[in-house]
Amino acid sequence: MWTKDSLISVIEKNLKDYKFIVASNREPYMHEYRGKEIKCIKTVSGVTIALDPVMQAAKGVWIAWAGGNADKEGVDENNCVKVPPDTHTYTLKRVWLSTEEEDGYYYGYSNQALWPLSHIVYEKPVFLKGHWLIYKKINQRFAEAILEEIEMDKAFVWLQDYHLTLAGKYIKKKRPDAIVSMFWHIPWPNPEAFRICPQKKEILSGLLSCDLLGFHIRYHCINFMNTVDFELEAKTNYEENSIIHRGHKTLVRAFPISVDFEGISDESHSLPVVQAIKQLPEQIEPSYEILALSVDRIDYTKGILERLKAIDRFLEKYPEYQRKIVFYQMGALSRIRIKTYKDLINKVQKLVKEINCKYRTESWYPIVLNTKGIDYVQHLALYRSADLCIVSSRHDGMNLVAKEYVAANVDLKGVLILSKFTGSARELSKGATLINPYDFESTADAIKKAIQMSKEKRVERMRKMRDIVAERNIYRWAGKFISNLVRL
Ligand code: F6P
Repeated sequence: MWTKDSLISVIEKNLKDYKFIVASNREPYMHEYRGKEIKCIKTVSGVTIALDPVMQAAKGVWIAWAGGNADKEGVDENNCVKVPPDTHTYTLKRVWLSTEEEDGYYYGYSNQALWPLSHIVYEKPVFLKGHWLIYKKINQRFAEAILEEIEMDKAFVWLQDYHLTLAGKYIKKKRPDAIVSMFWHIPWPNPEAFRICPQKKEILSGLLSCDLLGFHIRYHCINFMNTVDFELEAKTNYEENSIIHRGHKTLVRAFPISVDFEGISDESHSLPVVQAIKQLPEQIEPSYEILALSVDRIDYTKGILERLKAIDRFLEKYPEYQRKIVFYQMGALSRIRIKTYKDLINKVQKLVKEINCKYRTESWYPIVLNTKGIDYVQHLALYRSADLCIVSSRHDGMNLVAKEYVAANVDLKGVLILSKFTGSARELSKGATLINPYDFESTADAIKKAIQMSKEKRVERMRKMRDIVAERNIYRWAGKFISNLVRL
């Protein structure tokens, strides 16, 4: 079983002469003005939540876009700050972007071209030359910040996600001896889907500058290798899972990302969480006997509208549950400078209102939509209290909410309803109730079945999922990734 300590010993044994550098778009901690005060806040995003405990073990340097409105105040002359704010365990180096650069690189090419291209959800990607040029420039800036940190030392560089497809190439140009790897946190589409991208060759050869490329599941590795076969003059080896391109070899491997199971489980037992659980029924306005939970960024890949339609159908088809169940939807606002996201928020709010109007009584309505956010303790209290958790992504690389729910479910009483189209469905299929989010009728039935599931069955199924997440935890993910690199 991988633990924080075993990860630390792998890093100390194998990488002690190397600088350990992680780079991602999103920073793990940001400084924000709260009135006149400046607060250092932990960011809530799949990548940062997963990698923060790894960095606390590795104690390296994490390079990321400065997204907080007081980030300038928090750093030294090298743009660095020690984080987490209480323990100062590792260094965060910030990269600055102008508003125009944010629009081209983050809101533009990353999230209007690569994001819809990689998720098969029938959302058309937008490829603008202007966005692409800024995306390239920012990848170069990230590479420069990384090279600045490497100095003259040996280095292990770990790039994260679709925002940084070209950074590896720029690093290798100046430091071919640096070990450069990349983990792709979203799905990799099939070659037919990818071929519409006008910049496909540059992106693929950028990624093939890396020594190791990681995806969540084997299916995404195969898709990637097939894409390379389609698009580039390269030698793909399906036995070794490697690709040779322009004389450079890249290993392609699956590493299913996960959560800090032990950390989440322990904290879910803590006194503040226990107290927060007691206060929940007073805090959630409509009274309930059954609590169903969903936690997402408001993103079209998450299937929020599909879920709401299934809830409507469920209440219509099984009216005996009206006035008994409350669906609590945590919906973090996301990428709101992009019109599709702004429109989606409006659609979600409108549909919630319609469904609530349709079923409401004097003292009850079925859906609570919280877009304001809550703190971590309340988050865990909700996970521990919810009788069911619904993850209905239309397509998702992994989905860590599913694994967090399992890790926090220390009472073994919850049921996980999980989209078949998530990476986590591959690992949790024995315990979760799998759904096709496009099929409202069967999702409505799945909700009913979940409510009616016996206590024994819930315990049995939750235990199965907990065993899997406990074993395949975040330290295993990082440990396996690093061990593969060490073998290089
Ligand atoms: O899950 C995919 C992902 O891109 C992660 O990399 C990231 O944690 C999440 O979506 C949130 O995205 P953003 O940083 O744009 O809010």
